[in-house]
Amino acid sequence: MRRKIIAGNWKMNKDLKESTSLVQEIIQKNKSFNCEVYVAPAFPFLNEVSLFSSSSQIKVIAQNVSNKSSGALTGEVSIDMLKSINIESVIIGHSERRKLFGEDDITLKMKLENCFKNNMEVFFCIGETLDMREKGIQNDVIENQLKNTLFDLNNVNLEKLVIAYEPVWAIGTGVNANSDQVQEIHCHIRNLLNLRYGKESSDLIPIIYGGSLKPDNSSNIFNCSDVDGGLVGGASLNSQTFVDIINSI
Ligand code: PGA
Repeated sequence: MRRKIIAGNWKMNKDLKESTSLVQEIIQKNKSFNCEVYVAPAFPFLNEVSLFSSSSQIKVIAQNVSNKSSGALTGEVSIDMLKSINIESVIIGHSERRKLFGEDDITLKMKLENCFKNNMEVFFCIGETLDMREKGIQNDVIENQLKNTLFDLNNVNLEKLVIAYEPVWAIGTGVNANSDQVQEIHCHIRNLLNLRYGKESSDLIPIIYGGSLKPDNSSNIFNCSDVDGGLVGGASLNSQTFVDIINSI
């Protein structure tokens, strides 16, 4: 049985008080979840949110991490720093990091390599732009994103890997991919994982969907056979909509 996962990516939203209140509200609204639940607050609040969620099932995940271990890298945060506050999971390759902060495949491959070397769990984001989808090349784009990074590494801890398919055109736009589009790509990703790692080991890797997930579209998407959960942006900033999405899985 594959893990079922819902993760809330708070991006650059919520200050300290808002972050701790949000996690407390989620816990109060739902004492026992039917899947694994993660939240990703901004870096300065990872520790506080972790402390508030420590007695619950909620796990805290970082939105990013440096590809280097230490040194003169102003503004960066290392894996060791995250581990020192008991953060064991990180989102890598979100399309906003790729597009707005110039993270290319070489950087992402280094980040992945460091994470696996240090036993960090990775949520690795991949996805095509609108232009690519209109050209009908989304399957090739996804394949290349995997081949240039993850598939080029020798020591991948598959137990610590979650793939997040996030079509860039669906992120923050209010336009979600429909369940047929999601199922088709997730099945493609599943086949690529099977080819690279063998069916037995790769069948356990969760593939989650992200892009304008809301309580009114989530259950359709989560019902797809190759969808193992969701990465939620905007709708995770409100405890009720986030809990509704969690309950729809
Ligand atoms: P969204 O963001 O739910 O606001 O579209 C998803 C994401 O960026 O992970």
